[in-house]
Amino acid sequence: VLKVTEFISANDLAALLDVSVNQIISTCMSLGMFVSINQRLDAEAITIIADEFGYDVEFTKSIEDELVEEVADEEDDLIERAPIVTIMGHVDHGKTSLLDYIRMSKVTADEAGGITQHIGAYDVKTKTGFKIAFLDTPGHEAFTAMRARGAKITDIAIIVIAADDSIMPQTKEAINHAQVAGVPMIFAINKVDRPNANPAKIKEELANQNLLIEEWGGKYQSQDISAKTGQGIDELLEKVLLEAEVLELKANPNKNAAGTVVEASLDKGRGYVSTIMIQAGTLRVGDVMLAGQHYGRVKAMFDHTGKKLKEAGPSTPVQVLGLGGAPQAGDTIKVYDTEREAREIANSREQIQREQSLRTKKHITLDEIGRRL
Ligand code: GTP
Ligand code: MG
Repeated sequence: VLKVTEFISANDLAALLDVSVNQIISTCMSLGMFVSINQRLDAEAITIIADEFGYDVEFTKSIEDELVEEVADEEDDLIERAPIVTIMGHVDHGKTSLLDYIRMSKVTADEAGGITQHIGAYDVKTKTGFKIAFLDTPGHEAFTAMRARGAKITDIAIIVIAADDSIMPQTKEAINHAQVAGVPMIFAINKVDRPNANPAKIKEELANQNLLIEEWGGKYQSQDISAKTGQGIDELLEKVLLEAEVLELKANPNKNAAGTVVEASLDKGRGYVSTIMIQAGTLRVGDVMLAGQHYGRVKAMFDHTGKKLKEAGPSTPVQVLGLGGAPQAGDTIKVYDTEREAREIANSREQIQREQSLRTKKHITLDEIGRRL
């Protein structure tokens, strides 16, 4: 049995197998794989090559796993954290209006810079004094994209449905997304201020979809709201908290921060600005962070009102300055003890990425040639 880490280079694999790298390369060639000396090999390639030399493979930890020794949290270290909520629904049913109403009515007026920037995530304090974090994703594409990248960042989904309309294709899609992701849903039946609003009709349509609301003896919470007048919105937020209570959301604030990138961009004056949702641990100014292939020290950190923060704990959305590039939405962000660790992982990810894109390019070219012939 050969113990090996994934993405080892052909050269290193040769050393482990005690053969020359040329033997590896020619073996690969006879199997129809073209590898170069320093090329990193994926699990499948390693298994096939090792088999040719009479070895079974056992994969051990990668550099990344090595450095990120995940320690399970002690029950005592866990504290309650705020729910992270995503609002989804059909076009024009009022997602943005609802988010705006919540933000405007809840954001405190003592904003440091005085300017409320639009950022992809924010948090509010409800009348009863509890925090809720919102992800302001443009439609569910971002939600889907994040899920595709393995990011689990939403605890509860609010599905907005206009009471003067019906359950529409994107409503069904949103419901489907939430169900597949195993995220509990709360229905917000919006625009009830409109004369032609018919919330009962929407509830019936939900029932026809096998989504029976509590009011009608089912298990789904639902609230009639108006994102225009604010009717029902405090009640909606209380229902979010109720759902959160059932979920018993907890996190350990006493460790290096970990979270997910919500959005990132290059600001001419400030450099790379990333909005991140912290999901565990506490992020502090000066920490070494790594997201995707980019790393750097947290130079400054702000809340969604532009107020400077020195530290931020679980379920807090923050804007951070200091990454050396713009990561992608859905990338995880983690804090490391030393810059060396972050750099090593960043470099290894970059190299893997480069080699994968080379392979894809080659593949496309061959494919194109095939089509032309
Ligand atoms: P997309 O982002 O395009 O998918 O739409 P959206 O779901 O964000 O809807 P948006 O908040 O932009 O609202 C669409 C329209 O409905 C706007 O003209 C809003 O002013 C209006 N609207 C939203 N909520 C209400 C409401 O509760 N009552 C009334 N009367 N109008 C509303
Ligand atoms: Mg909108």
